[in-house]
Amino acid sequence: MPCPSFLKDDAEQTTLALSAMLDTRCPAVPAPLLPAMRYALMAGGKRIRPTLLLACYRACGGEQTAMVMNAAMAVECVHTYSLIHDDLPCMDDDDWRRGMPSCHKRFDEATAVLAGDALQGLGFELLTQVQTASDTDLTLTLIHKLAIAIGGQGMVGGQVLDMQAEQQAIDNVLEVERIHIHKTGALIRYCCEAGAMLAGANEQQQQACSHYGAAVGLLFQITDDILDVTASTVETGKSAGKDAAQGKATYVSLLGLSEARRRAANMCENALDAAEQLGGNGDGLQQLAHYMLERRA
Ligand code: IPE
Ligand code: IPE
Ligand code: MG
Ligand code: MG
Ligand code: MG
Repeated sequence: MPCPSFLKDDAEQTTLALSAMLDTRCPAVPAPLLPAMRYALMAGGKRIRPTLLLACYRACGGEQTAMVMNAAMAVECVHTYSLIHDDLPCMDDDDWRRGMPSCHKRFDEATAVLAGDALQGLGFELLTQVQTASDTDLTLTLIHKLAIAIGGQGMVGGQVLDMQAEQQAIDNVLEVERIHIHKTGALIRYCCEAGAMLAGANEQQQQACSHYGAAVGLLFQITDDILDVTASTVETGKSAGKDAAQGKATYVSLLGLSEARRRAANMCENALDAAEQLGGNGDGLQQLAHYMLERRA
C-alpha cells in the first residue's frame, strides 16, 4: 500500500503551517533556542500524528481543516519534543534523526533539552488557540487529555518503563505491550480522539476513533520495532539496529520477526474493524492503517 495521497497533503499543510507559526516567534524566542526548535521540527518527519488528527476529524464529519490546524501543529510539536529527548545521550543516545544529525549533535545537549521543553509548551499554547467556536469546555478537555496522554501516566511514563526494561530480562509480551501503549500509543490515541472531538463526534464515532487510535498506536510501535531490525538508516533516517544494541524490550526481541509481524497485522485488523464503524467515512482511516502496517520509514 503506497502512502495515501491525503497523508502527503496533510503532511505538507502541517509543515507549511509550522514554518509560518515559527516565523511569528522570531522576535520573542532567543537564539539558539528557536533555531534548534526549527531544526528539529523542519527536519522532515512523516507527520503521521497531525494526519491522524485531521483524518479522524474528517471521518467524523469535520469540514474546516484550517480551523483545527493549530491542534494538528500542537501534536507535532509535542511529538518532536519527545524525539529530541529520546535521542539524548542519557536516553537512547542516537546521533541521527529524520535523516539529519539529532538536535543535541547539531547544537548541544542543553540547547536540545531546552528546545524540547519549549516545543512541549508551544504545543499546549497552540491548543489554546484552536478555533473551536469559542467552546471553552472543549478547549479545556483537549488540553487536559493531552496532559494525561503525554505525562507520567502516558508517554513519559512509557519512556521510563522503556529505559528500565534495558536493565531487566523482560520475558512477558504484556510488559512490552504496556511500554508501547504508554510511550507511543497514548499520544497517537489522543490524536484520534482529539480529531473526533473537534468534529463534534457523536458517542459512536468517538468510540470508533478511540478504538482505532488504540489499535494504530500499538501497531505503529510494533512496526517501529520491526523497522529497527529490517530497514536501513537511509530508509528510516535514524540509526538502524539500535534496539538490539541497547537491549531494548521490543516485540521483535521477545517474539521474533515473524510473530511481531503477525501481531502488527492483527492490530491492523483491529484498526480496520474500528474504522468500519464509521461507514464510508472511515475509508481514509483504513488506508492509513494499511500504510502504518506496511511503511518502510
Ligand atoms: C518515531 O516516530 C518515534 C516513535 C514513537 C516510534 P515517527 O516514526 O512518527 O517519527 P517521524 O515523526 O516520522 O520522524
Ligand atoms: C520513542 O520510541 C518513543 C518516544 C519518543 C516517546 P523509540 O525510541 O523506539 O523511537 P525511535 O526508534 O528512536 O524513533
Ligand atoms: Mg526510545
Ligand atoms: Mg529511540
Ligand atoms: Mg524505535
